[in-house]
Amino acid sequence: METQILPRETDELPRYGGHGSRPEETGKGLVVERFSHLVVGVTKLDVSEAWYRDVVGLDLLGRDLTAEPNPHSVLQTNTGQMVILVESKSFDRPPRNSRHQAFLMTPNAYRRAYERLQGMGMIISDTHEGHRALGNYSIDLMDPDGHRFQIQTYGPECHEYQPSDAGVVDCGPAERYKSGDVKPFKQGNFYLVRLREGFLALNRWCTHMNGIVVYQKAHWHFYCPYHYATYDRRGEPSPYPGNRAGGPLRLHPVTFSNEGHVLVDTSQVIERSAYEPGQAAVPPSGDPAQAVA
Ligand code: FES
Repeated sequence: METQILPRETDELPRYGGHGSRPEETGKGLVVERFSHLVVGVTKLDVSEAWYRDVVGLDLLGRDLTAEPNPHSVLQTNTGQMVILVESKSFDRPPRNSRHQAFLMTPNAYRRAYERLQGMGMIISDTHEGHRALGNYSIDLMDPDGHRFQIQTYGPECHEYQPSDAGVVDCGPAERYKSGDVKPFKQGNFYLVRLREGFLALNRWCTHMNGIVVYQKAHWHFYCPYHYATYDRRGEPSPYPGNRAGGPLRLHPVTFSNEGHVLVDTSQVIERSAYEPGQAAVPPSGDPAQAVA
C-alpha cells in the first residue's frame, strides 16, 4: 500500500456523513463520538433486521445503502452510530465467549431498557451474576445468530457507604490480639486490625465501587476481586499505578469496655483521606503490642 496523504492537523471531532445519514444530519454532518459503525455478520437478514429494530430499538435506515456487495441493512442508534447487518450464508456462529460489544448507559436508560426487554419476554442473563459489586448492573442479549451484546450501568449506590445494622460489636479482649493480626467480622462487615500503635476497624466496602475486600495474608494486604484494588493493613491504597481504590478504606470508631474488650461501633463510619497514627485506638493499658510484622 502506498503511503497515505494524511489529514490536516486538528483535534476536533469529525462529523459523520456516511451512507444513510438522516436528512437532518446532512449538511455539516453529525458529530459521532465513540464508535462510528459496527458491522455484524448475519445468516437471515430479515430476521436479524427485525430483531435489531424491534428488540434493540434501532432505527432502520434502509437496505443496501453502502458499497458492501452482500445484501445488508443499515440501522442507527439514537446517538448516531450505524449498525450494518451483512448477510452471508457461510457465516460461522461465534463461540459463546468470543468478542462481544458492551454499552454503558445511564441508570435511567438502563432501567427503561431492562423493563422493555423483560416486557418482550426476552431471556435476560448476566454472565457475571452474583459476582458484581453492589451498584453494578449488567445484562446480556444474544441476537438470532448468537452475537452477544451487553448493556451495563453503575448506579449511584456503588459509591455510597452501605451501613450494616450490627450496631456495636464486641470483638473480645484486646490482649488476645498481637501486632499484625487481622480478624474478619461478618457481623458488621469489617476487619479488626491490630497495628503496633493500636486498633483499626476497617470497613470492607471497597472505596472504588463497593466491592467487598478480602484479606490476603500471604501478601499482607486487602484485595478487591472486582477491579483488583489493594490496600495495606492501615487501609491505604497500595501505591502502584492503576490501583482503582478511591481512597483509604473507611473506619469504624473503636473503644474499649471496662473489661478491656475491643468495641467497634458499626453504626458510625469515618471517611478519611489518608492514614494518621491518631486513627489507631490504643487500649487503656497502653501496652505496646508485641510486634510480629
Ligand atoms: S469495586 Fe472496583 S476495585 Fe473494588
